Amino acid sequence: MNLILAEHAGFCFGVKRALNLLEGALNQKKPIYTLGPLIHNPQVVEYFKKRGVKVVENLSQINKQNAVIVFRTHGVSPEIFSEARERGLSIIDATCPFVKRVQKKARQLLRQGYQVIIVGDPLHPEVQAINSWCENKAKIVNNQADLNNLHFCDKLGVVSQTTTNKDIWAKIVEDLKQKFPEAKTFNTICNATSQRQKAAKELASAVDLMIVIGGYNSSNTRKLAELCKNIGTKTYHIEEAKELDPAWLKKAKNVGITAGASTPDWIIKEVISKMKEISEKDLMEHETPQGGEN
Ligand code: F3S
Repeated sequence: MNLILAEHAGFCFGVKRALNLLEGALNQKKPIYTLGPLIHNPQVVEYFKKRGVKVVENLSQINKQNAVIVFRTHGVSPEIFSEARERGLSIIDATCPFVKRVQKKARQLLRQGYQVIIVGDPLHPEVQAINSWCENKAKIVNNQADLNNLHFCDKLGVVSQTTTNKDIWAKIVEDLKQKFPEAKTFNTICNATSQRQKAAKELASAVDLMIVIGGYNSSNTRKLAELCKNIGTKTYHIEEAKELDPAWLKKAKNVGITAGASTPDWIIKEVISKMKEISEKDLMEHETPQGGEN
C-alpha cells in the first residue's frame, strides 16, 4: 500500500500563530483563559488544558485577578473586546490576520453604504464575528438556495468566510451576478484553505481511498472531506489514529492523506504509522508459507 500525504496539509499560518501566542502567554505565569476552544481540534485543546489553560464560554466565568484572555483565530466582536477591557483582563488577540482582513472589509463596505453579504455558515463563530464588525447587518448566504431570500439592493458587497469551499463560492458568485450584476464580490477565502483544498482534490483524484484527519468540529477539515467525496473517491474523516478501521484499507493500493488547518503534525504522524502497521500486518497474514523440498 502506498501512502501519499497531500502537498499542503495540517497546521496553517493562523493556527501556528495562535498556538505560539498561547505558549507565550503561559510563560507569564498568570491564569490563562480562552474564549471558546482556541482551535477546532479537541486533542490540542486537551493538551493545553493539562497545562492549566481554561476554556470559558463567556467572560463572566472568569473570576481570577490578573487573568489573561486569549481570543481565538475565528475572531470576536467589538463588544467582547470592550467587555474584556472593562473587566480588567489582559487581552491576547489570536484572531487570524486573514480573518481580521474580512472583518475590516465587511466594516468598510457597510460604511460605504453597501448591504454586506457573507458567504459562509451562519452558525460558525468566524461568520458571527465578521457580522458583528458590520453591526450584525450582514445577510448570510450558505448555499445557492439562500440567494432566493435576497431582495433587490443596488449596492451589494460580498465577502466570504475564510474556509468556504472555493467551488461553492464560484457557483454562488455566478448566480448572484445574474440576479444582481452590480454586486461587488471579494474572494476572502484564505490562501491556506485554497492550497489545502486544491492539493486534496488533486490527490483524491489519483488514489483509491482518502483519509482526512482533523476535528469533527473543524469547518475546513469537514470541507476537505466533502471535496474528496465529491471527486468520487471513498473518503473517511477521522480525528485520531485509533479510529482507523483495517477493513477500510484492505483493497486499497494507493491511499491519500490530508489534514485540516488545525490538525497537529503529531496526530498526522500517528495516523501514518498506524496505517503502516495495519498494512504490514495484512501483508504478513497473506504471505504464503514456504514449504520444504520433498
Ligand atoms: Fe487563518 Fe486561514 Fe488558518 S484564515 S486560521 S490561515 S485556515
